[in-house]
Amino acid sequence: MLGICGGIAAYKSAELVRLLRKQDIEVRVVMTQAAMQFISPLTFQALSANPVSTNLLDTEEENAMGHINLARWADKIIIAPATANSMAKFSLGLADDLLSTLYLAATCPVYIAPAMNQAMWNKAITQEHIQRLETQGVHIIGPEEGEQACGETGGGRMSEPAKILAVLTRQVTPKFFKNINILITAGPTREALDPVRYISNRSSGKMGYALAEAALYAGANVTLVSGPVTITAPDKLNLVAVETAEQMYQAVISRIPEQHVFIAAAAVADYSPITASKEKIKKQQDKHRIELQKTKDILAEVALGADRPDFIVGFAAETENLEHYAKNKLKQKNLDMIAANWVGRTQGGFDSDENALEVFWDAGQKTLKMTDKKQLAVQLIALIAEKMNEKNTT
Ligand code: PMT
Repeated sequence: MLGICGGIAAYKSAELVRLLRKQDIEVRVVMTQAAMQFISPLTFQALSANPVSTNLLDTEEENAMGHINLARWADKIIIAPATANSMAKFSLGLADDLLSTLYLAATCPVYIAPAMNQAMWNKAITQEHIQRLETQGVHIIGPEEGEQACGETGGGRMSEPAKILAVLTRQVTPKFFKNINILITAGPTREALDPVRYISNRSSGKMGYALAEAALYAGANVTLVSGPVTITAPDKLNLVAVETAEQMYQAVISRIPEQHVFIAAAAVADYSPITASKEKIKKQQDKHRIELQKTKDILAEVALGADRPDFIVGFAAETENLEHYAKNKLKQKNLDMIAANWVGRTQGGFDSDENALEVFWDAGQKTLKMTDKKQLAVQLIALIAEKMNEKNTT
């Protein structure tokens, strides 16, 4: 059951319902009166394919499913966003609306994703309520630090739906990668032809950034070496912005000795122009030749180098023979794991919000089905943690 309180983050809950439904999890939504000021129950009815409950004292709603039955029906309750006011009610045992009554009647695990202004979050009384809820066995998810809807910056932003889903489905815990350094490459590179033109590719960085966020959530110290993209990186990671394949190579190689895990999700140019013209190339002949030379293979150099991190994951972007090429790369580049994706298709791959992965390692493989890249990243990070753990214990 998903409880929604009145806060601007309520719009993110629509995405949470979508992600839960994609995992075939049945969702019933309960909204407070304030929540309905931010987003319509109709949105949640359509997304959850179930009626939305909003009133405690409504005979029709009670006939459809009474509040005690609703509390018994749920095998998990997530309240996202949870306002300071609702959390205070839960903590004190007040039951003056449907959601607080359900909380009081619930016997299943309860998860709360707070969302509020940073000053409200930092108030001693809010922290007191949080502590009381935690001692009552409630799982608190987030909140995150960052820019807030009110324009202020600080703690109080609701965690992203993919993270909430990951906690709910126990795919990842904040302790998986505690004290582990992970370096991730993301996005495209740009290889200059002249001061205004370059060769590049369609990578948006979404896959690499989603992995960085999932690794961060799993407790890792994350360094993200990123080509030019338009995504904002979370504050907590160490972002190194680069443009060319050579710059990405230098940025990675110089930081590799202190890394435990390396994940190469970037679409690095395989070739770069031998010379870039200092001036803008003029339109003259009908044909124009550009001579290219191979770039350094960052992934292979890291995996075959003296400072090889404990666990290395490559990506393979293929338009044909996915398994064959991916397995070749796994072997030739001396990797622990390779995540292969189809590219150039209508769904998934470059610049899409969704993706699917065929993941191969020495002794096995796993299919991660088409889903949102943030959710997929959480699954891949969990798989990396599992296989890394196996490697370290054998
Ligand atoms: O960024 P998005 O829009 O979200 O798209 C995601 C993605 C499709 C870019 C991503 O999922 C992906 O497949 N990334 C790898 C793309 C790629 O360049 O694949 P490849 O098969 O050509 O390269 C194999 C591996 O070698 C990759 O891990 C790549 O990062 C690495 N490589 C390649 C060349 C090079 N010079 N150095 C490298 O490290």
